[in-house]
Order: sequence, then C-alpha cells, then structure tokens
Amino acid sequence: MIMYVLTEEGEKYLKNKLPEINLVKELSKKELSVSEAKKLENFNIALQWAKKNQWIEIENGIMKLTKSGKSTLEKKYETEEYLKEVKSGKFDEDKMKILLTRNLVRNVTEKEIETKKLIGKEVLDVTPELIKSGVWRDVKFKEYNVEFPGKKIYPGKKHPLNLVFEKIREVFIEMGFDEMQGPLVETAFWNMDSMFIPQDHPARDIQDTFYLSGEGDLPDKKIVENVKEVHENGGNSGSKGWNLKWEPEIAKQLLLRTHTTSVTYRTLAGGIEIPCKRFCIGRVFRNEASDATHLPEFHHAEGFIAAENLNIRSLMGFIKSFYSKFGLDEVKFKFNYNPYTEPSIEAFGYSERMGRWIELINSGIFRPESLAPYGIKVPVIAWGFGIERLAMFIFEKNIKEILGHTCDLKYLRNYDLLKLEKW
Ligand code: PHE
Repeated sequence: MIMYVLTEEGEKYLKNKLPEINLVKELSKKELSVSEAKKLENFNIALQWAKKNQWIEIENGIMKLTKSGKSTLEKKYETEEYLKEVKSGKFDEDKMKILLTRNLVRNVTEKEIETKKLIGKEVLDVTPELIKSGVWRDVKFKEYNVEFPGKKIYPGKKHPLNLVFEKIREVFIEMGFDEMQGPLVETAFWNMDSMFIPQDHPARDIQDTFYLSGEGDLPDKKIVENVKEVHENGGNSGSKGWNLKWEPEIAKQLLLRTHTTSVTYRTLAGGIEIPCKRFCIGRVFRNEASDATHLPEFHHAEGFIAAENLNIRSLMGFIKSFYSKFGLDEVKFKFNYNPYTEPSIEAFGYSERMGRWIELINSGIFRPESLAPYGIKVPVIAWGFGIERLAMFIFEKNIKEILGHTCDLKYLRNYDLLKLEKW
C-alpha cells in the first residue's frame, strides 16, 4: 500500500494557505506592480500557479485578477482540498500527482507507518526508523534483562581422552623423555618374541590377541639369531633360556599389537644411547569381551629408562613422581607378574577426591634375556598403563560413555575441561 504524508512545505501551505491563493488575496485588495508583488512570500511559486490557473494577467508591468481569479476566493481550491485530505489520512491516489510534482506530499514506506504505530508503546530495539522519524521520543524502551541466560552454543571442544593424551605427553616430556612410535599391525616377533615371551607361553593368549592372516617380515638376521638363541638356550644372557625350539614361523605371524611394549623393543633393538628415556602413547588391541570398562581397542602409554645403576628403588621413585604429576601423592606398590620383567610391580595411587586407591601402572625391570639380544647391558626400568582407565578415573565415567557409538554426547559437550587440572 502506498501512503502519503505532507512535506514540510505542504504543512506550511496548509497552515498559511498556498502562495497563489495569498497572491490572489493581495490582488483582490488592490492591483500590484510586478516589482511590488515580488516582495510577497513565495512570489515565483504564486506567479507560476496563478498564471497556470488563469487567475491573473499582467499588463504593462501591472498585475490584475482575471474574471475567474476574482471568483477564486469564493470557491474551494482543489490543491488546498487535496492537502487537507492527505492530512486527514483519507486521500485519492489520482490527486496525488500534482501534489507530488509540487513536492507538497511524499511517499511513506510501510516501515515508517509501522514506526508511527509505535508511538506510546513499549519497544525493545532502537531502529534507524525510530531515530529518523523522531518517534523514539514518544516510545518507552523496554529494559534489558542482562541476567537472562543466553542461548547455549557448543563450540569445538577437546575430547576428554585427547586431553588426557596431551597431559600424559606433557608429563613425560617434562620428565625428559622423548617420544617413540611404531606400527599398529605388528609381527608376533616385536609384540612377544623380542621381549622373551616364550612361544608356547600362555601369555600369548592371556593377552587374547587379534591375529591377522599373512606373515610379516622378521628384522635383521643378527637380531633374529640372537632372539632365537636366547629363547632356546639363553645365548649370552647368563640364563638357560626356555629350552624350547624357537620357530621363526610363529614369530612372523601378523597381529594387532596388544601393547606398546612392541614399540619399546623396536627402539631397544634399533640401538640406543645410554642413558635413554623414551615414551610411547598409542592404540592397542585385545580380543576381550567389551563391557563398561573394557573395549577391544584402547590406548597405552609407556615409558622406559635405560641407564647405569637403575634398580627397583629408581623404578618406584619414577613411578611416584609420575603419579604426583596427576595429583596422586600417596603411592603403594605390589609385586605382580610380567613375562618380560623381573621384578614386576603394580603401583596404586591414592585419590583424595575419590577416597580410594587406584591401580594404574604395571611396571618392572626388563629381564636380561630380553635385553641381551640387542647388546644392552645396563638395567632398563619400564612402566605402562591404559589411558582410558586413567580417563575413567579422572572424569568418573565409564569408557562407553566417553568413547564410541554409545558415548554420552550431552556429557561430552558439557564436561568440565578443568577437571584434569583439579584431579
Ligand atoms: N606391557 C605392559 C602391559 O601391557 C605394561 C608394561 C610395560 C609392563 C613395560 C612392564 C614394563 O600392561
């Protein structure tokens, strides 16, 4: 819908009459010379329209009214009537042409109309229309409730498990360890044989391994030879070995690594400079039934130190300081069993927050039989643990709520990022 309002000029003429009418009024009192008439307000406009309407004539510089000019004041003047109509809001579209050409009315937009309707009302936003139209003076602005909660948005957030990875990496690096990496698909050689796990040992299925079809390559002949020796007769390790025939075919079997200790042994066999401190964070696989606290794939972190004069005390000391980085200051140890460490110990940390002992770390001193094939003569202390397990303690969630298709998205979006710091 098109709407019109009077312009400032239109308003003025409505109030003070149109200039051509005022001219006629003057002339009806007395004739005027053009130069006298020029002194009247808006003379040029008055002259133009009075002439157009054939109300005046000029003879020898004198202006006089014509016949129709004389009767003008007794009649209604159309242009003035139109102005009144526009003012009242009821107008005829066809009549607007003349008012528009004379710039006495202008089009108003719907926005302006809407803005006008706001007078006396309560409004929330200051709009350009409110300011332009001056209507802002006549409205009441709603007060802002600055305490109203905003719409919740979920920007990118680190997954709790990633956060724990980062924390572990940070702790190891802080303690002077370098990171090492290795493949997920391994040969039984690096996953087991290299660390003196006998080929018929129940540990091979204690770990419930995912075996793959096909065979992998064995490493350097010399290394294979040394491993074979140590398994069969102890080689130069000072042990008698397992006294079993070592089968390269078994060692070649491909599998998904069951621990990151395969990476540790690849590193040890690759040649290290003493002293040496390395760590590994990586995915591991175990063919066990999955439940609230177990998934068939998860992550391990492990570290080792190879140096002169290390003993069980050094191992316990390192584990203690490692735990303390996670806020666990009270640590207890218990002997356990690993085929490749002697002694082997488990460590428990006391969580003040949870009010209980948490078993997290499996560790030990690598057996000489597992080091001799690589010419390592210094003691090597090592420990490893499951990262999801640590994450479960930190975030007090079971693993399926954090990871995989059963994860609790609401929790992952809202969890307390700082929890790791507070732990
Ligand atoms: N490989 C062990 C595990 O799977 C961890 C470990 C690493 C233990 C190094 C002793 C030494 O739990």
